[in-house]
Amino acid sequence: AELIDVPANQLIGSAFKNLGLMVTINQRLDFDQIELLLDEFGFEAVREEEYGADMEEAVEADLEADLQTRPPVVTVMGHVDHGKTSLLDYIRKTNVIAGESGGITQHIGAYHVELPGGRSIAFLDTPGHAAFTAMRARGAEVTDVVILVVAADDSVMPQTIEAISHARNAGVPIVVAVNKVDLPDANPMKVKQDLLQHGIVLEDFGGDVMSADVSAKRGLGMDELLEKVLLQSDILELRANPDREAVGTVIEAQLDVGKGPVATVLVTNGTLRVGDHVVCGMYSGRIRAMLDERNRPVAKAGPATPVQILGLPGVPGAGDQLIAMPADRAAEIAQTRQRLEREKRMRIKSRGVKLTDLSKM
Ligand code: GTP
Ligand code: MG
Repeated sequence: AELIDVPANQLIGSAFKNLGLMVTINQRLDFDQIELLLDEFGFEAVREEEYGADMEEAVEADLEADLQTRPPVVTVMGHVDHGKTSLLDYIRKTNVIAGESGGITQHIGAYHVELPGGRSIAFLDTPGHAAFTAMRARGAEVTDVVILVVAADDSVMPQTIEAISHARNAGVPIVVAVNKVDLPDANPMKVKQDLLQHGIVLEDFGGDVMSADVSAKRGLGMDELLEKVLLQSDILELRANPDREAVGTVIEAQLDVGKGPVATVLVTNGTLRVGDHVVCGMYSGRIRAMLDERNRPVAKAGPATPVQILGLPGVPGAGDQLIAMPADRAAEIAQTRQRLEREKRMRIKSRGVKLTDLSKM
């Protein structure tokens, strides 16, 4: 609203009237929505090119022969109270296959679980569509598979439908977790039929969307769910090159009193090592230490591995990209990004002054 000099409530009105979007003033829109909305006001949305982001391509495309299978990255979505947090908690705290407890206790934005047969899955522990949409709006599309949680006693609800459309827009396949099957009034069949109305055709109905009946509370069906996620990821043939400089995405970051800036980064390609120089958002630095989700130090992290990194001089934003590169290049890019950011802020500020002046006339 600020940038195009249109009152916020007018934008909200137009979103509803012309696009059928019910939005609030502090809601994030994704890029596609912004594009449509701005079009109504005669503006063109242009995705901001991040200075130095082309480094990834500059680092030589991977050769077919260097690509190896990598684990899937999974996000959990679903309607309020349908059990997203319970599902993630169960997986986080339990060695799912052995059914033992005693896993990760702290909250970090991403963790990975090892499964029998040497396979693993990376979970983004940022439930809710807002995080997914915010990351996408920043051009960071890290999710390979969405687990759609639908409570069997409540079936398909508005945010279930919203999650389906988010996953669809992002081109990410869904695996359905029909949750709370332990409840007496659970009706998994109704869930499956209702999903049909929204174009989700489960295998039971001859479609290709996999599902598992689960109880996140009791731990029922959870290994089957994870197996289906692995099957779905096999179809995607997810691959990466572990033998190259690391590229990653910041999942969350904060200032830790003892450790300084700490960022949870999902390595998306290459291998990140302690001692690497990186540019990450507006900052450059040397990786001083890396910790896994159990706070244990690790020396390196390969594709689809989440790690907490220490050593950045500031706190990057969620969705920021991390690239390992020589120290001088990293420093140069970080400096330029900081300058561009300062200039952008100045522009917005001076526009604000102009607006105030006009309103006084
Ligand atoms: P929001 O974050 O508020 O959108 O909810 P959520 O989707 O994360 O749901 P959450 O995991 O907080 O679960 C909501 C309620 O359902 C809690 O009271 C859970 O204990 C309960 N619940 C979750 N999974 C199950 C289940 O498998 N069976 C039963 N009986 N209850 C469950
Ligand atoms: Mg929750």
